[in-house]
Amino acid sequence: MARARLHPDGGTLRCPSGHTFDIARHGYVSLLTGSRATSGDDAAMARARDRFLSTGRYGPVRQAVARLAAGAASERGRGTVVDVGCGTGYYLAGVLDRLPAARGLGLDTSVRALRSAARAHARAAAATWDVFRPFPLADGVADVVLDVFAPRNPSEFHRVLRPTGRLVVVRPTGRHLDELRGRVPAMVTIDPFKEERLHQALDPCFVAAATEQVEYVTSLTGPEALDLVGMTPSVRHSNRADLEDACLLPDRVTVSVLATAYRPR
Ligand SMILES: C[S@@+](CC[C@H](N)C(=O)[O-])C[C@H]1O[C@@H](n2cnc3c(N)ncnc32)[C@H](O)[C@@H]1O
Repeated sequence: MARARLHPDGGTLRCPSGHTFDIARHGYVSLLTGSRATSGDDAAMARARDRFLSTGRYGPVRQAVARLAAGAASERGRGTVVDVGCGTGYYLAGVLDRLPAARGLGLDTSVRALRSAARAHARAAAATWDVFRPFPLADGVADVVLDVFAPRNPSEFHRVLRPTGRLVVVRPTGRHLDELRGRVPAMVTIDPFKEERLHQALDPCFVAAATEQVEYVTSLTGPEALDLVGMTPSVRHSNRADLEDACLLPDRVTVSVLATAYRPR
């Protein structure tokens, strides 16, 4: 897709050469045309994520993201925030709450997640997009790019950010959800070289400016524990009946993540 400006036209967005992109009944825009992306949360995972995040158990992570993002926006809280792999828009909404005059755009391949993201905040829009394709955004338009537990495209992050902008990346440490790993078969393990690989991937385009480590233990009800597993890819390899076995899931978990704000080189 050429990087031409899109204009609203009835229930669609139209580009100058006449292509139209539908605005779904649920509020997100279908920009992703052609071959389908190979990754993205299915409807059950997106519903589980919606329910789990609405409990507030990841509230401290959301606050850290908002703090780091706020450092990059203008004094009056203006600016554009792009959340890549936004899921249900939980973190994007947290940042927009903190920046009273900013607007947000969530991009994701999961249409079920985008239904929630489109409603996550009055100043947020949501669109289908594959992070591995060139983003549907002009150069230097974003003050903040968020990437929270989502796939990354460093060169596109860099292209769409203003020189004064910030990329905020959240990823798990080796202790994240440790209590689940022993109990849930196929629970995704954390690559011990994850930090090194992240550094190598981002280093050509970004310099780390500030990092917050967020680590705490949170209690879980049975349904919350099921949703926490249900929103991860490991659920695809697990048997729900096994998971529902009360002995299997813990009643508390360690949340342990690193959140870093990077400035463009
Ligand atoms: C672990 S979830 C994180 C969602 C959200 N950032 C959060 O933390 O709640 C990963 C997200 O990336 C999305 N995703 C996976 N592959 C993608 C791709 N190629 N392009 C865009 N989004 C993708 C998934 O659909 C999912 O919403």
